[in-house]
Amino acid sequence: MSESEPTSPARPNIPRHVAVIMDGNGRWAKNRSLPRHAGHRAGVKSVREVVETAARHGVEYLTLFAFSSENWRRPEEEVGMLMSLFLEALRREVSELDKNNVRLKFIGERERLDRKLNDKIRGAEDLTADNTGLRLQVAVAYGGRWDIVEAARSVAGKVVSGEIDADAIDEGTFSAELQLGGIPDPDLLIRTGGEQRISNFLLWNLAYAELWFTDVLWPDFGEAEFESALAYYSRRQRRYGHTGEQLEAVKC
Ligand code: FPP
Repeated sequence: MSESEPTSPARPNIPRHVAVIMDGNGRWAKNRSLPRHAGHRAGVKSVREVVETAARHGVEYLTLFAFSSENWRRPEEEVGMLMSLFLEALRREVSELDKNNVRLKFIGERERLDRKLNDKIRGAEDLTADNTGLRLQVAVAYGGRWDIVEAARSVAGKVVSGEIDADAIDEGTFSAELQLGGIPDPDLLIRTGGEQRISNFLLWNLAYAELWFTDVLWPDFGEAEFESALAYYSRRQRRYGHTGEQLEAVKC
């Protein structure tokens, strides 16, 4: 089988890596006649619950889509509020994450974030760099196409400088340049909020992921829903192009 098979043979029914598109904060707030920012604030609680549940079930990598390249198009006030919320969440949660042995990493176009947020992000990554528990990636100002273009630019630079030969480029050398370079591909993608699309998230890395969609809005998503997604995943037979019979034969 190919190197795109991230599931640990030791825990075949638990996804090693879960990616989440957290959608529905705005509608959650609207349903309660609250401003949109109330939905984003309520969403932080779901983030906490999902991180705890993932760690408890032995998920090794969790990647959350917090702010997309396209989200810059939202009203300036909402963008500003989201950036403040990320900063506040970092201030409030990082020491607890660190105590729980979580290693934090941010992916995305960080140059577009302001200096205060970037400093806090760097501090959180440094503080948790040696932790050996759950690895939590937060995608902020992230777009899958941007990620691929940046990786292509990086590979091209290495070819031009003579570091690598163009003929030697393969999936492995390319994916190492992506934002999640060195991290196994997600086994499971969860999207809340009722839409069934990828929305420019991890376009390369999700190639073989199982997809689980729910109508539940992100602020209502928690332990029970995450466990439903894990249960769905455990029932899937991942074939990577093989036939079902081939996989049964390997098991015997
Ligand atoms: C999508 O809902 C959600 C976002 C763009 C923001 C996600 C942010 C959080 C959950 C806050 C905390 C995150 C971290 C990592 C601390 P939407 O606004 O598109 O909802 P709608 O589709 O109902 O309008």
